[in-house]
Amino acid sequence: MSDDFAVQTFELAKEFNGLRAVDGIDLKIREGELFSLLGPNGAGKTTTINMLCCLLKPTKGTARVAGYDVLNEPGKVKGHIGVSPQETVLSERLNSWENLSLFGKIYGMSSKEIRERSEELLERVGLLDRAKDQVRKFSGGMKRRLNLILALIHDPQILFLDEPTLGLDPQSRRAIWEYIESLKGKKTILLTTHYMEEADFLSDMVAIIDSGKIVALGTPNELKKKFADTGVLRVSTKGLRKDILEELKAEYETVNETAEELKIVRDDLDLKEVVDFLYSRNVSVYSAAREEPTLEDVFLRITGKRLRD
Ligand SMILES: Nc1ncnc2c1ncn2[C@@H]1O[C@H](COP(=O)(O)OP(=O)(O)OP(=O)(O)O)[C@@H](O)[C@H]1O
Ligand SMILES: [Mg+2]
Repeated sequence: MSDDFAVQTFELAKEFNGLRAVDGIDLKIREGELFSLLGPNGAGKTTTINMLCCLLKPTKGTARVAGYDVLNEPGKVKGHIGVSPQETVLSERLNSWENLSLFGKIYGMSSKEIRERSEELLERVGLLDRAKDQVRKFSGGMKRRLNLILALIHDPQILFLDEPTLGLDPQSRRAIWEYIESLKGKKTILLTTHYMEEADFLSDMVAIIDSGKIVALGTPNELKKKFADTGVLRVSTKGLRKDILEELKAEYETVNETAEELKIVRDDLDLKEVVDFLYSRNVSVYSAAREEPTLEDVFLRITGKRLRD
């Protein structure tokens, strides 16, 4: 690949009847990187992916994917990518083998290649036993797993995974995470998800998009350091008098009290110091633990708590 980046966008924008779904974004995704695009409903994630896969024409700007321009060389782009769309693209009356075969043929694979690769992929996502059943008899989670491996049949360099674990049970979700993790470094992956734990676990880089604009970019740890409270302590107590609470509030930046639970925030928080303080005033401490910031804290801090369409 001649480019430094597997995917790069240049002020990429899409308007739908005056609505700026994607509003001039500049993304750079390195080869072999797992890049997560996170954002509330309607933020512009799927629209971005559709433009990168040449399924939707940008209103303004452009992008290079695998070194090719999405406007001028869509055929070349399509040969290097695999897409697992948010809305599943399965033929309900065909079985898994037939669905995979259909995609393999589109990509010019031989029957032998398709058979071997399908078996490997079906095994990997636990569908081999049911591979002869018509897809219409599958559960939602099974359909989503098949939808994911359709994107992988031709072993593409770059993968676009739009909510690959939507609606999966915790076991299936973890199985998919492990599978995606096993692809890390070997494939360039652009992932969208609403599961912050998933993004935290898998991502090298995270971009947060809101109303079509990139509002934060960094590794999960960089984002937590920048946008979440790091010195948070949760203490469960009994016998906390009002005057002691006032004393605590004078000492620490934020002290929230809900029933017998205290949440104390200060950058250089010392767990022992707080516990000693409470003991010295005869407050019973049942538990005290430092709370690690999560990507969900970051997400809510940046995008707010207002409901989206
Ligand atoms: N074909 C279309 N015609 C008109 N508006 C559209 C079209 N596709 C998307 N939009 C609008 O563009 C905005 C972005 O939608 P998009 O599907 O990209 O969001 P998203 O970030 O993928 O959201 P979600 O998390 O719900 O999947 C929304 O306001 C949506 O209604
Ligand atoms: Mg979407």
